[in-house]
This record gives sequence, structure tokens and C-alpha cells, in this order.
Amino acid sequence: MKSYWDNFARAFSTLRPPLRPSGEDIDFMEQCVAERAAGRGTEGLRVLLLGVTPALASMPLPESASLVAVDNSWPMIQAVWPGNVPQKRRAIRADWREMPCRSRSIDVALGDGSINCMRYPDGFRAFAAAVREALRDDGVLVLRCYMQQDTPETPDKLYDAVCRGDVKGFHAFRLRLFMALQESAESGIGLDDVHRSWTAASGDKHLSAERTGWTQEQIDTMQYCGGSRTVHTFPTLTEFRTVVHEYFEESRVSTAAYEMGEHCPRFILKPR
Ligand SMILES: C[S@@+](CC[C@H](N)C(=O)[O-])C[C@H]1O[C@@H](n2cnc3c(N)ncnc32)[C@H](O)[C@@H]1O
Repeated sequence: MKSYWDNFARAFSTLRPPLRPSGEDIDFMEQCVAERAAGRGTEGLRVLLLGVTPALASMPLPESASLVAVDNSWPMIQAVWPGNVPQKRRAIRADWREMPCRSRSIDVALGDGSINCMRYPDGFRAFAAAVREALRDDGVLVLRCYMQQDTPETPDKLYDAVCRGDVKGFHAFRLRLFMALQESAESGIGLDDVHRSWTAASGDKHLSAERTGWTQEQIDTMQYCGGSRTVHTFPTLTEFRTVVHEYFEESRVSTAAYEMGEHCPRFILKPR
């Protein structure tokens, strides 16, 4: 069975915020790197990217900085990585839980939806521990994360909202559907379950491109969830903090202005 990310690589170019970082999110991460670089003077600054998010991989880096991206999907690296640049940026295929960098060597780690790829709580803990181990004591972890609401909406309510025309963007809908279908952070939500729910509801409720206002190309990306073993996790803010705060303290949290932005906060985290 193929991983979702193997198929996802093909659908990646159709993604929009909130499933991809917006210009504002990228500026935010760039600013975090610039601030760290200012604090380090001319010493080489080492940036770790958790995934191969192209807009983050290709953001301008300070003169002294270099970036290493770690992602465990070769198809994703092949499909979206903007290319290695000697001494400046390179991608490595590896699992975040076995980080291929020296202990305490990284100044800034950046992740966009990365922790949502891990299982809760053990995967979150292993991810946080591995990133903490890679970071210098004065380093920072900057994460954009997808957060479940304290009282999740039900799939029926969400589909009804779509029928009324109350859900604007397709990508905001997809994120809401993942969250609505997830029973608990511990169970996460399997993408094959998302596909099954969507296939049934879109037939029953006639959720066509004309009816929803979404493009057929966007709707067709739902098929990549079918047959996937991938599970995503949407913790509440409390669940996220319960595990991540074992390794990091929160220095700042902010949100962007797009639809569902309040469910995609950006955290600046400092090692404990
Ligand atoms: C960073 S996340 C979220 C996608 C993101 N919102 C974007 O715009 O790119 C997706 C990436 O994480 C990678 N990934 C998932 N689990 C991983 C793991 N345990 N170790 C390394 N990479 C992983 C996937 O291969 C995929 O490329």
C-alpha cells in the first residue's frame, strides 16, 4: 500500500492555506530565522526544516545560514524539493524520530503541520524529544500546527454547512472534515476513513463542483486519501501542551487571517 504522501506529492501543487502555509506564515518563519541570525552575529546559523515544504525550503536565508530538510518520503522529496544548493541547503531522507544531525547543533527548527503527522501521545513525545535533542540550548522550534477545537463539530453538521454554502474554501473544508471525523487525539484520523465518509456524503448530498463552488480538480484530490494507511492527529491545545511542554516552553503563539487560521496557530518554542 502506498503512503498518502507518495500520492500527495502529485496533488501538492493544488494545495492552498490552511493546508499549506500562507505568505503571512512564511514571513513569520523568515522573521524567526532572521531574529536568531541577528543574535548569532556572523557565526553559521543552522536551520532544520521538518518536511520539505517548498515555500519554507526556498525562503531567503541570512548570509550565514544553511538549511537541512528532513523528510521520510522519497517521492515527496523528488516531487517538491526545490533542489540542493551546495553549502546552503540540502534534503535528507530520514525519520524525525531518528534525526540525522548532531546533538545540540541546530539553531532554528521549522515545521509546518509536521507534528500532526505523528501519533498522540507517543509520537508527539518522540518528535518533541528528537527535535529538542537536535536543538542548541538557545535554539528555537517554530511550528504551525493544526488544532482540534475543545468541542469538535460533527461530520453531519459540517456537511450541512457545506450544503448551505457556509464553508468557503475547499482546503478549509478538508481540514474541518479531518477534525470532525477524529474521535480522539489517541485514535487520530485515518485518511482512508476520510475518503469513505466523503464518498458516501458527496453522493448522498450531491456535493458536486457546481453545488459547492469548489473546482473539480480540488474535489478530485480526495481520491488520494482512499486506501491510505496515513493517520493524522489533531490535538486540542491542552493535549498539545501536555506533551510538548515536557521538552519546550512556549515563548509566543499567533494565528494567521485565513479561513480556519484560528485552528492553525504558530508557536515559538524554547527548549527547557
Ligand atoms: C510537514 S508535513 C505537512 C505538510 C505541510 N503543511 C506542507 O505545506 O508541506 C508533511 C511532510 O512530512 C513528512 N513526514 C511525515 N511523517 C514523517 C516522519 N515521521 N519523519 C519524517 N518526515 C515525515 C511527509 O513525507 C511530508 O512530506
